[in-house]
Amino acid sequence: MKRKLVVLLGLALCLFVALGASAKTYTIGFAQTGGNEGAWRDAETASVNAAAKDMGINLKFVDGQEKQEVQIAALRSFIAQGVDGILLAPVVATGWDEVLQECKQANIPVVLLDRGIQTSDDSLYVCKITSDFVQEGKRVGEWLSKKMGGKATIAELEGTPGADPAIMRQKGFAEGIASYPGMKIVLSQTGNFNAADGKQVMEAFLKANSRINAVFAQNDDMAMGAIQAIQEAGKRPGKDIVVVSIDGTRPAFEAMAKGTLNAVCECNPLLGKIGFETLIGAINGQTYPKWVIQTDGLYEASQAKAALPTRKY
Ligand code: AHR
Repeated sequence: MKRKLVVLLGLALCLFVALGASAKTYTIGFAQTGGNEGAWRDAETASVNAAAKDMGINLKFVDGQEKQEVQIAALRSFIAQGVDGILLAPVVATGWDEVLQECKQANIPVVLLDRGIQTSDDSLYVCKITSDFVQEGKRVGEWLSKKMGGKATIAELEGTPGADPAIMRQKGFAEGIASYPGMKIVLSQTGNFNAADGKQVMEAFLKANSRINAVFAQNDDMAMGAIQAIQEAGKRPGKDIVVVSIDGTRPAFEAMAKGTLNAVCECNPLLGKIGFETLIGAINGQTYPKWVIQTDGLYEASQAKAALPTRKY
């Protein structure tokens, strides 16, 4: 009898905690990289806003204007407002320890969304929820090497200087082409993850080297800009110059369906729900692996038309 009572009390307590956690309205700050990057970033922000609405979360959103100092100020403002937790999409990988230490001292858990940071103290954040950027770059590099028969003159459009995906995708792509000596990166420069800069840099690349026959864009927005630059230079993107990219946004699938983009590796931006669930879990004492990896698929142009109707971003 006594044993039954203990079990019943235990179950009641679990139910109380679960209901308590689900009944509470959480106030969560989200410091987005912000600025005018493009389709992928907009999809992520939309995902966070939709999840906040669905989960009854009181969301405090700050557009980081692609500046670390704006994001750091946002985190300090969240602390001052006494939020329950923080989501941070760190625009660059370094320089976070001091403000994350302040969050820790205020007992406010921080989950990193879509990008990681470099720190000697990983207790400063609950976990990072990101894709494996090295693998993304490597898969695209291997695909391009096979497509080009192991020989190409490559131009690389890099992401935002110092950003985790920019550093890791460059590393991965280099690994992906390493076993093909004929695959040569002859020009590499940042296009800041946006279409306008990507187009401008690609225009300069085409003027600088007429032998370019392949482009690796570290994200779709820059790839879209590069495709425009190639067309305006009188060449055929996808044919005269093979273009590969990372993200898997709708514009990229539409470009692949048109044959101006040859292949893309996904990078899932729909992180709102998992971000909030992880943060609320941490607020209630749950622990997580330091890296919650998102899975990505690689798509070729031939698959784009069939895939388009079911694309979620
Ligand atoms: O951190 C993910 C990257 O951020 C996306 O690949 C890119 O489009 C965005 O700028």
